[in-house]
Amino acid sequence: PTKYEMIIVSTDGPVGIIRLNRPDALNALCRQLTTEVLQALKAFDTDRQIGAIVITGSDRAFAAGADIKEMYQKKLSDILNEDVLNWASEISSIRKPIIAAVNGYAFGGGCELAMMCDIIYAGEKAVFGQPEINLGVIPGAGGTQRLVKAVGKSKAMEICLTGNVNLRAQEAYAAGLVSGVYPVDKVFSHAVSVAKKISQQSQPAIAMIKSAINECKSPLHILTIEHY
Ligand code: CAA
Repeated sequence: PTKYEMIIVSTDGPVGIIRLNRPDALNALCRQLTTEVLQALKAFDTDRQIGAIVITGSDRAFAAGADIKEMYQKKLSDILNEDVLNWASEISSIRKPIIAAVNGYAFGGGCELAMMCDIIYAGEKAVFGQPEINLGVIPGAGGTQRLVKAVGKSKAMEICLTGNVNLRAQEAYAAGLVSGVYPVDKVFSHAVSVAKKISQQSQPAIAMIKSAINECKSPLHILTIEHY
């Protein structure tokens, strides 16, 4: 079996579980962590026993963003050469549904990782934010696109442009970013029970639904084509 150092991988029946486990850095998404997550996702995706996947973190943090210390060591040329956000686009190629069970901080790349998942459930103390602008960078792993789809333009602009407007769990629910809010100690088990239910359905149909929903363009795009 594959040895992971920054994630804990397990299964519960047909559900593949990935727990981010880098507590000293609030699960900051360093290269090793994102590589391990992608490797585990790909292994579950090709495992015929697995129907859906749950990603979670700790009670304190889902993930506090890209690893700032690692980011600061890189020059622009390193970033371009290494394709540092490649992991983010590769997660989109996973065909099985992924549910995020979020407790604590989901900031920057952590919020983006949650949004790469297909359903997000939040614990009561979860908080979502895109503080990248405070570091002089943009929400780079899809935050500027996925957040708009989830919460609409004005709120997405406010969150990304100010860098200090965060959504607490109930606000994230009201805004449509998350599908439900649960007690801190229940959110993970709820995510697993939903993943089990999904796993009982027709797997080709589930994969097609995931793909079709992710292809859905914004209403503005459809209007543009049909009315102009
Ligand atoms: N990268 C690296 N280390 C991080 C980190 C990050 N994003 N976030 C937290 N840590 C580390 C801290 O440095 C600290 O380590 P040390 O004890 O060794 O100093 C440890 O985790 C605990 O953090 P704090 O002491 O800061 O904990 P706190 O409870 O006081 O604050 C927090 C929590 C508000 C989340 C704060 O840690 C914070 O603001 N973190 C940075 C959040 C951020 O800016 N994220 C965006 C990153 S850029 C990005 O994500 C780009 C992209 O789009 C892909």
